[in-house]
Amino acid sequence: MQKMVVNGGVKLEGEVVTGGAKNAALPILFSTLLADGEHVFHNVPDLMDIKSTRDLLESFGCETSFTDNTLKVVVRPLKTFVADYDLVRKMRASIVCLGPLLARHKQAKVSLPGGCAIGSRPINFHLNAMEQLGATCEVTSGYVVAKTEGLKGTQIIFDMPSVGATQNVLMAAVLAEGTTIIENAAKEPEIVDLANYLVKMGAKVKGAGTSIITVVGVESLSAAEHRIIPDRIEAGTLLIAGAITRGSVTVKKCNPKDLEALISKMRDCGFSIETGDDFISVNQTKTWRAVDITTAPHPGFPTDLQAQFMALMLEAEGSSIISETIFENRFMHVQELLRLNADISKKAKVCVVRGKQGQLTGAPVMATDLRASACLILAGLVAKGETNVNRIYHLDRGYEKLENKLTKLGASIKRI
Ligand code: EPZ
Repeated sequence: MQKMVVNGGVKLEGEVVTGGAKNAALPILFSTLLADGEHVFHNVPDLMDIKSTRDLLESFGCETSFTDNTLKVVVRPLKTFVADYDLVRKMRASIVCLGPLLARHKQAKVSLPGGCAIGSRPINFHLNAMEQLGATCEVTSGYVVAKTEGLKGTQIIFDMPSVGATQNVLMAAVLAEGTTIIENAAKEPEIVDLANYLVKMGAKVKGAGTSIITVVGVESLSAAEHRIIPDRIEAGTLLIAGAITRGSVTVKKCNPKDLEALISKMRDCGFSIETGDDFISVNQTKTWRAVDITTAPHPGFPTDLQAQFMALMLEAEGSSIISETIFENRFMHVQELLRLNADISKKAKVCVVRGKQGQLTGAPVMATDLRASACLILAGLVAKGETNVNRIYHLDRGYEKLENKLTKLGASIKRI
């Protein structure tokens, strides 16, 4: 099993480029099931989750090819409507193939995704919404078996904004008869990118990015071409890498508007942050204040940056209260950070981080999930001595060649 070996104490300097957004690419790739023909996507990150999605699309009977971050999906009449457990368990987000399969083929058999390290990851919002759209969803022997005579537009009100459930409903509603109004919809930039691609295919979608999205169903859609938006979570992770090492780093080809919550919090810490149309810079800062964060649906502080921000607070002046409101078990990185001599107290969904400059010392640690892996690498960049981050396959699900990007900024990091 591979691990990352990081030697701390190097100030990162220079420019680094953001890749395409994993969490925009995944639903957009599944939206290809809505229209036969050749779909072409640019700026697709080369990640394990993209490979898993390609495997699943090919298991349905699609053809895919991927070179230089350009991914082509050729959709023909499918040979099966079953999303197999062995493929879905590798990537929970596969559940969003349910909407397009129901919309286009009136049937789907999708393995229940199962939980993951950060939480049970229920799909009740997804299934309730499909039933409100006129499908029946039976859960039998680990699969959702869904059928419909034809989806019909309706009003869907979510108890809480769910990214995946909003995406599933969007992809079901575009071919449903009549109008669907989604209320309390998720507002993440990845929802907007999916809606933009659906419109390119000929769908009628208005309001994506706000909490009320209106979809007017159409007869059919056609394949199109699209460039995936930059990955705001990768960009935020790289920005924190510059900040935590007291360096000066410019993150390019990103969208600062997608990271307003992080930028605002880092400015509260005392970091000097500059932004332009497609870059964010953090300038050298010797000490920074601890600030509190509470994760929330977009545009609140992203849960996917909570672990990385916790690393930054380890060497801040003062105490930071970090509240995780989205997932029930997203503090798995805390136990590992304590091995690096961090001072953190954890109570249920709140952690108190007592920061102190120079307190971190390197040690072997274990990655437990995607964003925890990034957090441990960030802590290793500033801890005295060597930090070995084990089970680094978690990182490869969501970061393309992170060690190369950090090495380019001067970090002492290698994969073995
Ligand atoms: C997406 O997951 C992202 N994954 C996650 O990123 C991200 O953390 C999450 O949105 C929140 O922003 C992808 O886009 C592939 P949700 P998703 O449905 O869609 C509850 C990463 O690190 N819920 O918005 O699964 C759920 O338990 C990953 O890249 C239900 O109760 O998240 C959670 O508490 C991790 N019932 C909350 O809603 C449902 O049917 C938000 O989940 C669905 C969700």
